[in-house]
Amino acid sequence: MALKDKVFEKLNHAFGHFISGQTLAEDFGVSRNAVWKAVKALEQDGVDVESVHNRGYRLNPNALVKSRIESVIPDGIKLFLMRRTDSTNSEAKRLLAGGFCGTGLVVADEQTGGRGRLGRSFYSPPGSGVYMSLIIKPGFGISDAVFITTAASVAVVRAIEKLTDKKPQIKWVNDIYIHDKKVCGILTEAVTDFESGSVESVVIGIGINLYSEAIPDEIKNIAAGLDDESVNRTELIGAVITELSVVLSDLKHADFMEEYREHSLVTGKKITYTHGSMSGEGIVTGIDDFGGLTVETEHGEITLRSGEISVRLGMDR
Ligand code: BTN
Repeated sequence: MALKDKVFEKLNHAFGHFISGQTLAEDFGVSRNAVWKAVKALEQDGVDVESVHNRGYRLNPNALVKSRIESVIPDGIKLFLMRRTDSTNSEAKRLLAGGFCGTGLVVADEQTGGRGRLGRSFYSPPGSGVYMSLIIKPGFGISDAVFITTAASVAVVRAIEKLTDKKPQIKWVNDIYIHDKKVCGILTEAVTDFESGSVESVVIGIGINLYSEAIPDEIKNIAAGLDDESVNRTELIGAVITELSVVLSDLKHADFMEEYREHSLVTGKKITYTHGSMSGEGIVTGIDDFGGLTVETEHGEITLRSGEISVRLGMDR
């Protein structure tokens, strides 16, 4: 095994903790200079190693390392880890078009063309967020597919609650908010079979901002990061994908709907909605068993199944 690989194994094992150059040199019976060169070679391979004078070397705790991520996601999910891509959802769709037919997870450190709902973009600078897309073969009808989006929101909420003491809320349909600012967006896309028109695969794209300081000034009033230094990206990916696997296995019963309702940011609030060419105002009265938003308007109660709402946060009714 090359020295750089041995150094990587050691640093990976001590993940997040420093090991001095002297210790590494002694362990491998080489000079400190040889260790330094091995670290430089690792960096050239794209491994994010921090070197601090008098402390030594460590893998950046936020680094995305394939073997680490593989160890925290459920078995049977093939991982595609990328340093940079336009969009992990687009990458997932390219994989499917190229014949990939299993359950897969595309993770990127950076997206140059991250996509959001309704043609919006999702800002995805390097090292500052979790950008990932899970590819699943649903094996169910399109009627159950409506729950995927709600299920994914609940999975993200559970993961954040598991790893932090934050209180995430869901803004219908599937944005996750903390303290009235969006920290996560979800973009679910179905890939249909051209011949039969049936849903072949579903790509569930999840973007979580880690740091508020990385959010551009022009959207700082509406978006924020998780801002919890104790959480690293690997843990977050593991927790979200694990929870996602749990909720996706319950799509038939959709037991998670109650949890979705409990975390609703908009229930009881005054909103404006747009749905195609239709728009209006009303008070959100609840969320039905199929994830539809029930809204009391001046013309009576309506149920929104898709579309977009905006809400004045921090104000009731
Ligand atoms: C939204 O806010 O409307 C949804 C944002 C979804 C962003 C994620 S990041 C990973 C995946 N790849 C994309 O291009 N989009 C999703």
